Amino acid sequence: MNILVTGGAGYIGSHTIIELAAAGHDVTVVDNLCNSCEKSLERVEGITGKKVPFYKVDIRDRAGLDKVFEENKIDCCIHFAGLKAVGESVSKPYEYYENNIGGTLVLIDAMRSHGCKNIIFSSSATVYGNPAQIPITEECPKGQCTNPYGQTKSMLEEILKDIQKADPEWNVVLLRYFNPIGAHKSGLIGEDPNGIPNNLMPYITQVAVGKREELGVFGNDYNTPDGTGVRDYIHVVDLANGHVRALEAISRSCGLKIYNLGTGHGYSVLDVVNAFEKANGVKIPYSIKPRRPGDIDSCYSDPEKAFKELGWKAKYGIEDMCRDSWNWQKNNPDGYRD
Ligand code: NAD
Ligand code: UD1
Repeated sequence: MNILVTGGAGYIGSHTIIELAAAGHDVTVVDNLCNSCEKSLERVEGITGKKVPFYKVDIRDRAGLDKVFEENKIDCCIHFAGLKAVGESVSKPYEYYENNIGGTLVLIDAMRSHGCKNIIFSSSATVYGNPAQIPITEECPKGQCTNPYGQTKSMLEEILKDIQKADPEWNVVLLRYFNPIGAHKSGLIGEDPNGIPNNLMPYITQVAVGKREELGVFGNDYNTPDGTGVRDYIHVVDLANGHVRALEAISRSCGLKIYNLGTGHGYSVLDVVNAFEKANGVKIPYSIKPRRPGDIDSCYSDPEKAFKELGWKAKYGIEDMCRDSWNWQKNNPDGYRD
C-alpha cells in the first residue's frame, strides 16, 4: 500500500516508516518539523536503503495537503502529527486544540476529497484517565483526562468514530499507545525531546549521559508494590509493528476498530531504574520528590485483543528497551543536533 505518514519525522513516526518499508509498503511523509528535524528521515533512508518522499507541510494547510494527495495515490493515512507535551498543553490549550483537532479535521477533509477513507490514529492510554480496571481492556470506559492534550486524543477518537458511523466506507483504527520507549537497534534514530525531558526514560538517559545530575522520582507513596508509579512501557519498534498489523486490518475493510498497544506488564519507576542499570552497567542516581500533579498509581494494558484480532504481540522486554534507549542516547548525546 502507499501510506501517508503525518508526523513521520518524529519519534514514533520515524520508527514506523522502517517497519512499513520492511513489510513492502511505500511511504510519503508530511511533517511541519515543529518538534523534529529532517535528519531523522535521512537516517531512516540510510537504514532502509529506500528514499522517503517528504513534504514539509503543516496538516492545517489544506492547499499543501491537496498537493500531496494530487502527486501521490494514497491508500491509507497513519496520523501521528500532533503536539504531545502534557504540561505545555495546560498552559497553551488553544494551541493544542487548534493544532491537534483543527489539523486532523483539515486532514480528514483532504483525505475524503481525494478518495482516501482509511486512517490509523495515534491515540493514548491517557484516554482511560484513572482507569476503572487494571489491566485495562478496550472495553474499560474512557475516563476524565486531566489536561488538554489528553482531551484532544479523546475528542479525536469520538470525531473519527462519528465519521466512520456516518460513512461506513471509512476504515478507522484507533491505537491506544501505552508508554513507548527504546529506539531502533542501529542507534541512529530515537527520541529527541526539546529541553528538560518530561518523560521518564529520556530523563534517565540524560542522567546516564551526564546532562542531568539525578533523576527525581515523583512520589513513593502510590498504591503499588514499591510505592512508585507503575506503567506499561513498550518498545517503540514493537509499537511500530502494531501499525503494520493495523494496516492489514484496514485492507480487510475492518470498519471501526480500537486496540491497546502495550505489553501487559507493569513496571514501577524503580523497576525501570534497576533494569536500566542492569542492562547497561550505568548507575542512575535518584532522589524521591513530591508527586507530579495528574499522575496515577498504575496503568497497564490487557493486550489480548490486538493479539487475537491482529496477531500482534510485543516481542521486546524492559531490558531491551533500556539497552536500546541508551544506545541511541550515548551515540547521540545531543539528539539530532550536531
Ligand atoms: P513527536 O513529537 O516526536 O512526533 C510528532 C510529529 O508531528 C513531529 O515530527 C511534529 O513536527 C509533527 N507535527 C506536529 N504538529 C504538526 C502539524 N500541524 N503539521 C505537521 N506536522 C506536525 O511525537 P511522537 O512521540 O512520535 O508521537 C506521535 C503521536 O503519537 C502523537 O500524536 C502523540 O500524541 C501520540 N502518542 C505519543 C505517545 C508517546 O509517549 N510518545 C504516547 C501516546 C500517544
Ligand atoms: C505521560 C503523560 C501521558 C502521555 C505520556 C506520553 C502525564 C501526567 N501523563 O504519561 O498523558 O500520554 O506521558 O508518553 O504527564 N516519572 C518520574 N520522574 C520523571 C519522569 C517521570 O518519577 O522525571 C514517573 C512518573 O511519575 C510516572 C512514570 O515515571 O509514574 C512515567 O512517567 P512518564 O514517562 O511521564 O509517562 P506517563 O506519566 O505515564
